[in-house]
Amino acid sequence: MKTILESKNLCKTYYSNDVEFHALKNVDLSIQQGEFVAIMGQSGSGKSTLLYTLSGMDDMTAGEVYIKEQCMNGLKEKEMTNIRRKNIGFIFQGINLVSNLTLKENIVVPGYLTSKSKNEIDHRAEQLINRMEIQNQTDKLPSQVSGGQKQRAAIARAMINHPDILFADEPTGALNSSSGKAVLDLMKSFNEEGQTIVMVTHDIKSASYASRVVFLKDGRIEGELDLKKFKTDNQEKVIFEFLSEKGW
Ligand SMILES: Nc1ncnc2c1ncn2[C@@H]1O[C@H](COP(=O)(O)OP(=O)(O)OP(=O)(O)O)[C@@H](O)[C@H]1O
Ligand SMILES: [Mg+2]
Repeated sequence: MKTILESKNLCKTYYSNDVEFHALKNVDLSIQQGEFVAIMGQSGSGKSTLLYTLSGMDDMTAGEVYIKEQCMNGLKEKEMTNIRRKNIGFIFQGINLVSNLTLKENIVVPGYLTSKSKNEIDHRAEQLINRMEIQNQTDKLPSQVSGGQKQRAAIARAMINHPDILFADEPTGALNSSSGKAVLDLMKSFNEEGQTIVMVTHDIKSASYASRVVFLKDGRIEGELDLKKFKTDNQEKVIFEFLSEKGW
């Protein structure tokens, strides 16, 4: 197994109105290539903060993050942006497509910002659009499509550059259960093709799609659960018991 993402002693402190808040405290996390990891924890436990600092979208206060063994500390903004574009796909908590761009434009823009050719990006976009089943929606603005269609466009956008790691922050949080299931099934199918996924969720059913659950409490990792050890028809129960034991 190859480690694709690692944090050592990762700390994040927010400062607002002279108040310090330690949102992440010495988080050591190691993620292997091809894993599907679910990050769980109560509201405010630091899940989004963890995704932002691991993916380089926000700075860490202390500690180290390695993506494919490259240390992210001390990189210049421009280098970090390049790594983010090339190696990272991100699906945000609450869908955040650019409201005055069509779905198609939202999907291709991060691709056009890399050195790849327009043809290659357009081809990739077409494949993803078909796979997401939003072929008839691509000329519409985000406000003109359903929540599920928006989120599937957000997945296509996150996947446009073949990221090494796909981060997803509550990808089903804003969706009804059938749209949510469609999104999870799509993510699972990418994972089965080898895509590494780190997904935040507060939902046990969503977490049962993962191969490992990491439980955060007050900014610390309180426990991890390897789901590969358990039968697939039993996973929700196993996760529930694990979370109950950790004081969920
Ligand atoms: N910019 C900020 N400034 C100050 N405090 C912040 C900031 N962003 C987050 N926090 C605090 O850090 C803690 C962790 O926030 P975070 O968004 O990571 O939680 P979360 O686990 O994702 O919660 P949720 O499930 O509600 O999305 C919270 O207590 C939050 O209030
Ligand atoms: Mg959050």
